[in-house]
Amino acid sequence: MSSNAAAPAESLKQFQIPFFRPTIGEAEINSVVETLRSGWLTTGPKTKRFEQEFAKSVGAEFAIAVNSCTAALHLALEAVGVGRDDEVIVPTLTFASTGEVVMHLGAKPVLVDVCADTLCIDPDQIERLITPKTKAIMPVHYGGHPADMDEIHAIARKHGIHVIEDAAHAIPTEYGGRRVGTISDLTCFSFYANKTMTTGEGGMVTTNDQELADRVRLMSLHGISKDAWKRFSAEGSWYYEILAPGYKYNMTDINAALGLNQLERSGEFHQRRSAIVQAYDAGLADVEEIKLPAVRPDVVHAWHLYVIQVDIERLSINRNDFIKALNGAGIGTSVHYLPLHMHPLYRDRFGYQPSDLPVAQSAFDRIISLPVYPTMTESEVDYVISTVRSIVEENRGR
Ligand SMILES: Cc1ncc(COP(=O)(O)O)c(C=O)c1O
Repeated sequence: MSSNAAAPAESLKQFQIPFFRPTIGEAEINSVVETLRSGWLTTGPKTKRFEQEFAKSVGAEFAIAVNSCTAALHLALEAVGVGRDDEVIVPTLTFASTGEVVMHLGAKPVLVDVCADTLCIDPDQIERLITPKTKAIMPVHYGGHPADMDEIHAIARKHGIHVIEDAAHAIPTEYGGRRVGTISDLTCFSFYANKTMTTGEGGMVTTNDQELADRVRLMSLHGISKDAWKRFSAEGSWYYEILAPGYKYNMTDINAALGLNQLERSGEFHQRRSAIVQAYDAGLADVEEIKLPAVRPDVVHAWHLYVIQVDIERLSINRNDFIKALNGAGIGTSVHYLPLHMHPLYRDRFGYQPSDLPVAQSAFDRIISLPVYPTMTESEVDYVISTVRSIVEENRGR
């Protein structure tokens, strides 16, 4: 395993065990430097290779590299024809991107509650929200656990709507023996700095549909008929045509260089994350006040996040105090997420009340994301376990 050569940024030193440390080795650094020296900085041969390797890794026919998962989601919705006054079904327990891209196209995100165990979109809550305006369902594989794709596809087929997966957390996730990346019309991945593999910033759209792939690629670069690198290299000419008002979402070769190395190491990263999860599960299994993350049968969990739920009814402190105690002990944490329907934008624009989606509302009061990343040492993992245990012991009972 290559060493973690990057010096930690100041902000990462805040906690003895930060919530996240990227795993960047000498190979990644050398690849980026080599790209800088190559004379080709933006979309070019490295991006092309990264697309090919990524497509192979998930078993998809087509992969289009972009500069974020947010861009990927935007392009995917555009490609299936989502537009003004349409509706898109989205889980409420997700990041800003999943909802905002719907609004960028003039459509309305219709928020759905989540399953109490996986915290992924609850398929039983979807059908009653489908209207003649519904164009797509966009499940999120929360934390790296797959959503109920069979049930979601059955609903989508019945109503003739598209499924676009927000797979920002899902490298590598499997559902029913299939790798996430080919299950739906389009799948969108994130390579943001704290994801399971990173390009610094970046994203990817995968699909098996040639027409959708062509549309995503076209719109990812100004709606022009040829990639910039083909225009200026020996493979192409100066001539291009603008076919649609596209976006500037292309990935650079600098990012792709990083991505190629990270992709190569993603199996090793997943093994290490899984080992940490096993240690957490074993070390916390008997703590009745802590609910551990669920794993349904026949899935592979990517373990982007390890989300525990504290039983606040059995403790004298609330979730925020629990986090303060962890932070006080030098352990970085996060909360994924304040549900979309509880944000001012959604409350004011669409009239949501916190109690409208009660499972997510209740989960929000309990969830804490613990650190889980390949460079965590065994003693760091043990320290997190013993700290969680002692916070519970000190605050047992109301
Ligand atoms: C569920 C989810 N969707 C989409 C995104 C957006 O990813 P990106 O930062 O690559 O745009 C994120 C990022 O954190 C996410 O967690």
